[in-house]
Amino acid sequence: MSNVYESKVLDVHHWTDRLFSFTTTRDPGFRYQSGQFTMIGLQVDGRPLLRAYSMVSPHYEENLEFLSIKVQDGPLTSRLQHVKPGDTVLIGRKASGTLLLQNLLPGRTLYLLSTGTGLAPFMSVIRDPEVYEHFEKVVLVHGCRQVDELAYHDLIEHDLKKNEFFGEQVATQLIYYPTVTREAFRNQGRLTTLLETGKLFQDIGRKADLEQDRFMLCGSPEMLKDVRAWFDKLGLKEGNMSHQGHYVIERAFVEK
Ligand code: A2P
Repeated sequence: MSNVYESKVLDVHHWTDRLFSFTTTRDPGFRYQSGQFTMIGLQVDGRPLLRAYSMVSPHYEENLEFLSIKVQDGPLTSRLQHVKPGDTVLIGRKASGTLLLQNLLPGRTLYLLSTGTGLAPFMSVIRDPEVYEHFEKVVLVHGCRQVDELAYHDLIEHDLKKNEFFGEQVATQLIYYPTVTREAFRNQGRLTTLLETGKLFQDIGRKADLEQDRFMLCGSPEMLKDVRAWFDKLGLKEGNMSHQGHYVIERAFVEK
């Protein structure tokens, strides 16, 4: 059996000229946990061209959703950005990834720190009722250059609170903190600066608490490197499938 299957594109949304998302049909046998990724792509010159993409859609949804950048000369995204409803995309049969609750030590506050398309895995995490049972508060930070790159802003800010199954938990436990670096916005600045200066904690009205704070990170390699260096200085330990830690990391994969 091939390690990918064919799915149909159902819907495409272009957020900006650099960012789009799309939904596809889902093979009923494809299972994943919140925060995981799989390989997706297109058949190019008779061969599958695949990249890792995190699932935006919650694990219990009937269809799948993905968020992608558009790179005009990128081997995959230069093509993928043109998909239309009815087109075929390839989706991997296996999901993997480290952004899992089970890789984190128990704690009180879960910080989901993302830049750009690094938001994607956290869109499934914040729609998983289980996360609100493990943590008192879930803080989603999304850093972008421009306001219009804050994908899913309205969904997170307004619609999720009305969800009939977990809307109440979102309303009382989820804190959404979008931040923009190259335009005026209600929150501004790089995620690293916001953490190191303590401004993030101040703005959301919570004290940093190394005993009880846990972190999931997903975004650009430079951001991950900088945040990891700061965590190292603080003595925080990275979690993985064999050891629970204070934080877990996944890079936002698709650069081309
Ligand atoms: P900045 O505008 O200051 O570069 P990109 O679109 O390049 O992936 O960037 C997404 C967001 O991540 C931008 O707001 C960018 O800020 C920010 N960013 C880039 N590098 C870092 C870093 N090393 N630490 C924190 N934030 C970063």
